Parts: sequence; structure tokens; C-alpha cells
Amino acid sequence: MLAEPFNWHPGMWKMLVVVMCVALLGCLQAQELQEHVSIILLGATGDLAKKYLWQGLFQLYLDEAGRGHSFSFHGAALTAPKQGQELMAKTLESLSCPKDMAPSHCAEEKDQFLQLSRYRQLKTAEDYQALNKDIEAQLQHAGLREAGRIFYFSVPPFAYADIARNINSSCRPGPGAWLRVVLEKPFGHDHFSAQQLATELGSFFQEEEMYRVDHYLGKQAVAQILPFRDQNRKALDGLWNRHHVERVEIIMKETVDAEGRTSFYEEYGVIRDVLQNHLTEVLTLVAMELPLNVSSAEAVLRHKLQVFQALRGLQRGSAVVGQYQSYSEQVRRELQKPDSFHSLTPTFAAVLVHIDNLRWEGVPFILMSGKALDERVGYARILFKNQACCVQSEKHWAAAQSQCLPRQLIFHIGHGDLGSPAVLVSRNLFRPSLPSSWKEMEGPPGLRLFGSPLSDYYAYSPVQERDAHSVLLSHIFHGRKDSFITTENLLASWGFWTPLLESLAHKAPRLYPGGAENGRLLDFEFSSGRLFFSQQQPEQLVPGPGPAPMPSDFQVLRAKYRESPLISAWSEELISKLANDIEATAVRAVRRFGQFHLALSGGSSPVALFQQLATAHYGFPWAHTHLWLVDERCVPLSDPESNFQGLQAHLLQHVRVPYYNIHPMPVHLQQRLCAEEDQGAQIYAREISALVANSSFDLVLLGMGADGHTASLFPQSPTGLDGEQLVVLTTSPSQPHRRMSLSLPLINRAKKVAVLVMGRMKREITALVSRVGYEPKKWPISGVLPHSGQLVWYMDYDAFLA
Ligand code: BG6
Repeated sequence: MLAEPFNWHPGMWKMLVVVMCVALLGCLQAQELQEHVSIILLGATGDLAKKYLWQGLFQLYLDEAGRGHSFSFHGAALTAPKQGQELMAKTLESLSCPKDMAPSHCAEEKDQFLQLSRYRQLKTAEDYQALNKDIEAQLQHAGLREAGRIFYFSVPPFAYADIARNINSSCRPGPGAWLRVVLEKPFGHDHFSAQQLATELGSFFQEEEMYRVDHYLGKQAVAQILPFRDQNRKALDGLWNRHHVERVEIIMKETVDAEGRTSFYEEYGVIRDVLQNHLTEVLTLVAMELPLNVSSAEAVLRHKLQVFQALRGLQRGSAVVGQYQSYSEQVRRELQKPDSFHSLTPTFAAVLVHIDNLRWEGVPFILMSGKALDERVGYARILFKNQACCVQSEKHWAAAQSQCLPRQLIFHIGHGDLGSPAVLVSRNLFRPSLPSSWKEMEGPPGLRLFGSPLSDYYAYSPVQERDAHSVLLSHIFHGRKDSFITTENLLASWGFWTPLLESLAHKAPRLYPGGAENGRLLDFEFSSGRLFFSQQQPEQLVPGPGPAPMPSDFQVLRAKYRESPLISAWSEELISKLANDIEATAVRAVRRFGQFHLALSGGSSPVALFQQLATAHYGFPWAHTHLWLVDERCVPLSDPESNFQGLQAHLLQHVRVPYYNIHPMPVHLQQRLCAEEDQGAQIYAREISALVANSSFDLVLLGMGADGHTASLFPQSPTGLDGEQLVVLTTSPSQPHRRMSLSLPLINRAKKVAVLVMGRMKREITALVSRVGYEPKKWPISGVLPHSGQLVWYMDYDAFLA
């Protein structure tokens, strides 16, 4: 019997169409999900790869392969194929699975991972072209759509440029697929070299293609700082500021030393190795204004950069440095240095950082790290002020209520007595809320942390501990750029640390024996913007013929320069001497006349002086001080180039000078800058004549330019070197060209003139001006000769000891 032809009615047609569409969509989705990612690990047989990266890649595979992605892993190095393959195989053999995975499942997954991983030698341009071909062939063969390629540079930075060039020219993925290159520190040695490296990499890759790793951003407790602040906004809003925070400590202590890596360490030292990157990143996460959306990479970066802008510049006195005693010996041995060699590289550093913004002004941030210390531990500790007095006796204090117990919040990065990452919040602060990936923890009985028993804290630890590199690999895979260092971020950080590194370059670090024997030798204190060791250096610790020179060994030198008194010292002592002298002059003037008229220069030299006056001179009679400008650039007063801005940022915002005693130069009138017809110079001159008796300032602070200029009076200036005018408009050879300046005749009416000269760049002019006579046309500084006042030169050794 013939089968009856199927009777199609219109409803069935419709149904079939729907079913087919759903099936087709399903196919399309399935195809979309089958996106392929190629991961190329450069330096696949190196230490970092062996210790963390292969394990991290395996974890990534376990997490993501089940979700529709396919992978191939290309281990690459310079090593020849056979040897490289063997080395890589050894590492892959030792990969481990999560604790809760059944052994049979683990073996299966590992086996699949091994099948997807191949070693290849990547040395020449042809090797890279071949890699590209292989990836393309594989995609075509398996009918896969390419999602993207990750190139992980686990190689020394000198190799970056070559690899980058090869990737850029022959290994970019096709249209629609992404490229992500992952870079490991060091990213330069100082601001200049970081800038160079960034420019070089920028010529091969777009900013969004680069993922600079700071593995501390992958540490679970560090990665939790912003989410924690976000989730506990309500409780923290009122507490996270200068009124409530006593201080912040950001610490990374290590027991290991630098043996075996002195060739790297000798070039970097602890500040470059740890403080410039890991600890600074933690600092910015603690200190930044909390973005509305903490997972917006763009907002996080913007807020980070704002922290950098508000960091007060570091001076030599902001830091103490140490070196474990056997370090020099290790360097001599590993780097074949002569017996007489003593390294100055610090292996320990503690630095006092201040953030000059409304939230953090006055709160000390201590950054500290060192090798060969007594324990391995890392944490960021926020210690809150305690202004409560408890009437009941201590035995009635309950941890959750007593305001008299310490109040602190600790992001415990790892190790230490706790042995794991954790977030600790004193019970008398608030009960925190954490995501479900964190659980309440219990420590060993009797454990005390940061001065309190563990039971005094709400303590949380991650449900599953994860290695930092594995966390970051997952973020790279998901394109989460907020956990990486952008070029701007990197340069801002180097911009902050480089001046300190330069000023410490010749400082002898304090030697310490290492481990528990360090005793109290490295303990430090801080006050008035400076940080110092609590104990004097015991001389017996210093090996060799004599003790290492300490700053106090250099006396302030008094002599004559151009027949006037000269005070010379290392910059730090010099600034502190000048600040003391200015304060003494101010106190005398206020005692005699009721007010003190001080005219200040702009530029970079006086910044340290302003900071010193702002932080260490509580007896300064600011309420009776009038502040004038020696010169100004013709830019709006709010422009960062404006001298007034410098004064505002480094001095005015920290001291209490009455507003009506502050006299910026009127360079911006009628919405234009330094127009002759607006008569700004004449207005300033009239203001001076009206307020300063005889137009004679009590003290004028000048600088000396490398061309012999002073104030904004430049060689060959047609105005301001003589004549009647008190204030003049001038032209500078460097930008911004137009300036307003006090004239020499006005300066020379002052009761006292101090000329501050600092830095190596001033050596030549210092030597030259010491020999010339009165020739203000050629060297305006030579025209500074107060009629009846006193002239004093303040020069640091860098400028003076030519
Ligand atoms: C590295 C430094 O970046 O961090 C090392 O180069 C240091 O000197 C290491 O030992 C510490 O990292 P961790 O993850 O062990 O705390």
C-alpha cells in the first residue's frame, strides 16, 4: 500500500519554518560560540612560565573551554625545537587540577590540554610568518572563527622591540579578531626610559592591545579593594577621609634575599622593583575617589591618575633605605666585581607619601618593602583615629562595641601568620559585606594580628584561593583592562618616583644583618613630612675601612660668593636652612612691623622650599605674612604653568594666609593676557607701593637661570634692568614667552634678597657668574645688589661644587 501523501496545511508550514529558523539560529550561535583563541607564550621555558603561567593557562582552559571557546597554546622560546619541547613537556607534566576535581576528570582535562599545546622556536622573522600560517591553516582546517590572539611576553624587556616588530608585521589576526599583547615588568628604569619603551611599543601596538601586568593587581585581596569599597559605600563614606584615618600602611615584607638575581636587582633595587609598581598600585586603589562604576576601566584609570596628580613630591627626607649585609658580597660574586666593590642599591625602603587633596590631606601613607626581613607578608592597613574615652574598665569592653579598641581595616594580601589572602575589619567599625566568593574565616586559636586577637575582626577569605597570574590571565581573556597598567598610569608613577630615585642615587643605605637579627635596626618614625630611622646607625655594622658616609657627615658650608654670604649644603639640608632663615626673618619682621612682606619666585627649585615651609614650620607667622610674586607667566592663574599655581599647590593650600594678604600678579585682565593697555604691571606696582613701606620687601626669593636670568629678567631685556619702573612686562626665550616681573631696581630695594640655586644644570652658570662683575645686560643676576639690604646665596653642592 502506497503511503498517503502527507497532507500539508498552512499552519504546519508555519511551524516548520519556525522550527527551521530556530535550528538555523542554534547552528549560527553554536558557530559563534566556537570562536578560537590562540595563545602564544613567549619565554615558555623560563622561570615565570614554569612557576605560574602554564598553570594559569591550564586554569583558563578549564574555565573557558567548556563555554564554547576552542584554544591552541603555542609555547615559544629561542631554544631549539627538540630541547624546548622536552623542557616544556616537563612543566606541563606537573600541572595540577583544582582540589575538588575528580582524578579521572583531571587526567582527561590535562591530556586534552597537552594535545592543544605545542612548542615552537620563535627566533627569526620567518619563524613568526610560519606561526601565522600555521594558525590560519588550523582555523581553516577546523572551520573555526578566530576570536583573537594573545601574545604573552615572558621575556626580558630588551627583547620586546624585536618581538613586537615581528608580531606587528606578520602575526596580527584577521579583521574582526582581537590582538592582546601581555607585557611583564620592568617597564623602564626611570621616567625617561619608561617613556622611550612606551614610545617604541606604541609604534607597534595600539594602547588597547597592550596589557601591562602588575601581578599585585591579580592578588585576590588587592583585586577586592575597589569592589569592597563599592559594596560598603554606606559604611565607608563617612570614614574614608582625613578626619577619620590616622594613617595607611602599604607593606610587602620578604624573607628571601636577592641571591641569584643580583644582575637584575643591582640595576633596580627595592624602590623600582616593588614600590614604584606593586605598592603604588595598591596606594591608588585605596586613595582614589571611588568611581560610580568600579568596573569601568576608563573611570578607574581616570581616578587613579587624579591620585597621581595629588601626590606631594618626594624629597630625600621622605625615605629611609637599607641593604642586607651580605648583599654586596653576593653582587661581587655573581657579577665578578672587585673586592673593593660596595653596592649602594637599597634592598629595604620605607617612604612617607602625602596626598594633597581634600580627602587625604595630612594623612601619612607609609610604603615599605624589603628583602631579608623577619617574615613574608603583604598588606594594606587602614588605621582609623580613635578619639573616644571609655569610662568602664577594660574588662567590660566588648570587641563589637568598644570605641576604645583599635579600629582598622586590613586588606591582607597574603602569607604572614594568617597564611592566606583576607579582608579584616575591626568589629567596632562595621559589619562588612563581601561577595559570595568570599567566606567568613577562622584562624588558629590565639592568633593576634595588628595588635588585636583575630576574634576582634570580621575576617573573610576567598572561597577558592587563586594565583595572581591565573586571575590576570582570565582578565586578559575577557578584555578587562582595569587590572592592567596603561601607558599614562605607568608614566605618572615613574614621574612620581624618579626624583626620589635620583636624590637617593648616592645615599649609603643602612646595613642590616637580615631576618630576626634585624631587631629594631630598621624601625622608623615620621614627623613633619620626614621619615627617619628610630635608632642611630651602629657603626660596627659597617664593614670595610670606614663607616659609610651619612648625610649628617656633610656640614652646611659657609663662604662668600660674589662678595656676599654663601650657604652651601646638600639640597635637603640647604632647603631646611633656607626655610629656617625665612621663618626667623618673618618672625623678626612681624615683631617689629606687625607684618612680613615676602616675594616668591616660581619654577621648580622653590617647590621643595614651599613644601618644607608648609609641613615643618608651625611657628611661621602666616596670619601676618603678605605673599607677592617675583614674576609670572602670561597664562591664566589656574594654568598649571602659572607660578601662582605652583605656590598654590605646594604652599598656599597647606597654610593659613588670609586671602587679602595674597597678591597674585594681574596678568589676566579684561579676559586677555598681559596686554600693555590693561596696565597690569602698573596696577601691581601701585599695589606694592600702597601696601609695602617704601616698596621695600622684607625678603625677596630669587632663582638663577642657566643663562643668568633672574625673576623674569632675561639677558638683553629692554625693560626691568634699570629705570623707574617697579614692575615690567618682559619676554622670555622659552615658552610661554610673555612674562611679568619685578624690576631690578625694585628687587634691590628689598631688606633681604635670597638667591636659591640648585642642581647640576646650574654648575656652569654658577662658575661663570662667580667671575663676572656688574653686567645685568648680559647676566641679569649680576645686577642683584640690594642698596641697603642683604644678599645671601643658597647653593646646593650639585650646583656649587663644580
Ligand atoms: C616581584 C619582584 O615583582 O614581586 C620580586 O620582582 C618580589 O622581587 C615579588 O619577590 C614578590 O611577589 P609575591 O607575589 O611573592 O609577593
